[in-house]
Amino acid sequence: MIIAQISDTHIALDTPDADRRIQDFAQTIADINALQPLPDIIVHTGDIVHNGRADEYAEAVSIMAKARAPVFVMVGNKDDRANLREAFSPWPYLDPNCDFIDYAIDDYPVRLIMLDTLNPGSSKGDFCRERLSRLIELIDAESSKPIAVFMHHPPFEVSVGPDPLHFETLDIMSELASALQHSDRVVAIFSGHVHRAASGHVERIPATVMPCIATTLRKGDYPPDMKTRPIYHLHRFDPAWGFATETRIVGTRP
Ligand SMILES: [Fe+2]
Repeated sequence: MIIAQISDTHIALDTPDADRRIQDFAQTIADINALQPLPDIIVHTGDIVHNGRADEYAEAVSIMAKARAPVFVMVGNKDDRANLREAFSPWPYLDPNCDFIDYAIDDYPVRLIMLDTLNPGSSKGDFCRERLSRLIELIDAESSKPIAVFMHHPPFEVSVGPDPLHFETLDIMSELASALQHSDRVVAIFSGHVHRAASGHVERIPATVMPCIATTLRKGDYPPDMKTRPIYHLHRFDPAWGFATETRIVGTRP
């Protein structure tokens, strides 16, 4: 199984770099479409748009509609649950009785659990009691497959950058970390949000952070010819070895 992870496209319509962000997103989808073999799915780990606006989501949806693989999305701190839900509906896997955008995808050799770490109005992540119990339910709903968990905010201290903590409090992040260890079938955690590449662990579970697709918002130093080349991650799952992650530079030979 091959998962293409993209993140932090921050589509905006009225910023000086709005066209660049749209191009970065479109070029990334085109690059994924040209891969052989084609990834089984694309997962967008949030901050799809910059202001949570319906017209921004319409632009994002039009770009993602060109993807040849199914795309699954979640909320980042810049997203708006209601507008995102509206833009990507119908969502057969969402709980109609809950506003949180958390769900599991069961159609592949690895179960994929998408979490909602949005705390509206804050750039930091939250994970309340309700979401914790929903995560445990999602983990327990199937007992045979390995599980990869996707969430916008990384659930470990990312020591690269000015602030290593990306949740509101250390206690919230610790409770989330405990829930992720509820089953030893959770084999990988994939995040975005930090806008630069990083990797770490949640106890025994390997966790990665991918850089942002929007090149104008990317953190870290890159050579001039990289300035307009988005970077994304390809996670390949092998039953014997687990996940191996490749960093792809858009526009280079696969
Ligand atoms: Fe972001």
